[in-house]
Amino acid sequence: MNKTQWYKDAVIYQIYPRSFCDSNGDGIGDIRGIISKLDYVKSLGVDAVWLSPCYKSPNDDNGYDISDYRDIMDEFGTLDDWKEMIAGMHERGIKLIMDLVVNHSSDEHRWFAESKAGNPEYRDYYIWKKGRGKDGRKPPNNWVSRFGGSAWSYDEASGEHYLHLFTKKQPDLNWDNPKVRQEVADLVTFWLDLGVDGFRCDVITYISKVEGYPSAKGGGDAMFTHGPNIHAYLNELYRRTFSKYDCMTVGEAAGVTTDEALLYTGEGREELDTVFQFEQFEINAFFRVVPRKFNLVKTKEVFARWQNDLHGKGWNSLYIENHDQPRIVSQWGSESFRKESAKLWATALYFQQGTPYIYQGQEIGMTNIEFRGENDHADVMAKTVLSLVKKYVPFLKRFALKKLALRSRDNGRTPMQWNAKENAGFTTGTPWYRVNPNYKTINVEEALGDENSILNYIRKMLTIRKGNQVVKFGTYKDLCPADKQLYVYEREYNGDKLLAVCNCSDKETDYKLQITDDKFGEFKNLILSNYNKPGYDEYLKPWECRVYSNK
Ligand code: GLC
Ligand code: CA
Repeated sequence: MNKTQWYKDAVIYQIYPRSFCDSNGDGIGDIRGIISKLDYVKSLGVDAVWLSPCYKSPNDDNGYDISDYRDIMDEFGTLDDWKEMIAGMHERGIKLIMDLVVNHSSDEHRWFAESKAGNPEYRDYYIWKKGRGKDGRKPPNNWVSRFGGSAWSYDEASGEHYLHLFTKKQPDLNWDNPKVRQEVADLVTFWLDLGVDGFRCDVITYISKVEGYPSAKGGGDAMFTHGPNIHAYLNELYRRTFSKYDCMTVGEAAGVTTDEALLYTGEGREELDTVFQFEQFEINAFFRVVPRKFNLVKTKEVFARWQNDLHGKGWNSLYIENHDQPRIVSQWGSESFRKESAKLWATALYFQQGTPYIYQGQEIGMTNIEFRGENDHADVMAKTVLSLVKKYVPFLKRFALKKLALRSRDNGRTPMQWNAKENAGFTTGTPWYRVNPNYKTINVEEALGDENSILNYIRKMLTIRKGNQVVKFGTYKDLCPADKQLYVYEREYNGDKLLAVCNCSDKETDYKLQITDDKFGEFKNLILSNYNKPGYDEYLKPWECRVYSNK
């Protein structure tokens, strides 16, 4: 199969189906809702959609717990609706990337039911171990679930524990069992044969666990992240499936370094095409997850390292929002300069080398939502953390609620704001989760009507970006890595250059003085700016960004 690597020229729009558009008034986004918005998606200038899981699921983790890999979730519609959706996408020249969640299934999957019941055919589809302690009720080791608490649950009937790196309704599949690996290959082929163009591989770095399941410090991370057989398993999956189609893959890879990323994605490795790395979020948090003040210098260092280490060897994924992250305006930008800062971060990110991802609502600058109390949290991660805090460290509850409000995944999952009508035009019924009250001013209809909107800026940027050889192939150089306010970088390819200049602050700045003398001499041509009257002068207004070229 001739792999065209089309993803290197593509821009990908992520849809979180539950919150995108509800077609039947039950308050839950669905596939017919997506179909009704395909012209809108196309109009953004994107080339592909990554759809978060739409498979059958009891929704313990909003579809990331799958009970049937070959069918569609009842609330979202039917397989026929899905076929109409993919046909509608392909007609418009939009490719479809499905979420592939195969580190774990739902505990309501038939395989787990059989496994739990002790059917020998299926027992080893999951990871069952004897516990510690006299009665064997203590978990087999100290591994901690990604959402907090032990990663093991005890089963009375068999007297064994099963492993779940996420909720107890998300049992980990046993990839060391060849039958499991064949099942995964078969279901991947099932979707590829239905026309799917690629997969976003959920928490793929966890599929191989260290033999013997030993305890280890830090909750066992090192025992299940980039495990001993991971490259063999991915290579096998590649040979059985991905190699036979002109598809793309992106692996979700929390904790991955650039060296490891090259092992997963290097040309010739035949594993994955790209990964999502997390460093830009991890360095802006304590213990990788508790939010702290945004640190521009460290963030620039992360971007520079990924740009330079992968240059010519791998390929970056450019994302700053998704269904697991708070909104970028609230996190790294400024709600007072909402439009400016949303445009600035899009500029700072998307002129780098790699495949851009835009998360639904990012294109209109949606913001975090206000949490008035613990009942406002719907996400299973937030709820798990809160219940643990209440149980073990109740005096930290107020602190935890404060941090959760900044971090909660619910921030990115509020219904898409289509217009200023009731429920933001998302549903005619009662939305499954609160609509952000700012929908009257922040919505798609408003953005379409405003030529200076974030949405129109992004459209314009994507046009400039498309086919631009400097963006696609150029080198990357940070011109003021230590500056706490400015983000300025240069791209270069065969003498053609681009310069991105971003003032990441509510304050004006004089950028020329802080960089080198003549640097801006050659950049005669201003090709993009987020202010109507950008100065050719050296003063950058709050959150002003500009892109220059030397041609
Ligand atoms: C990934 C998904 C997240 C989910 C988790 C478990 O991190 O992005 O939403 O909760 O995997 O499947
Ligand atoms: Ca619906």
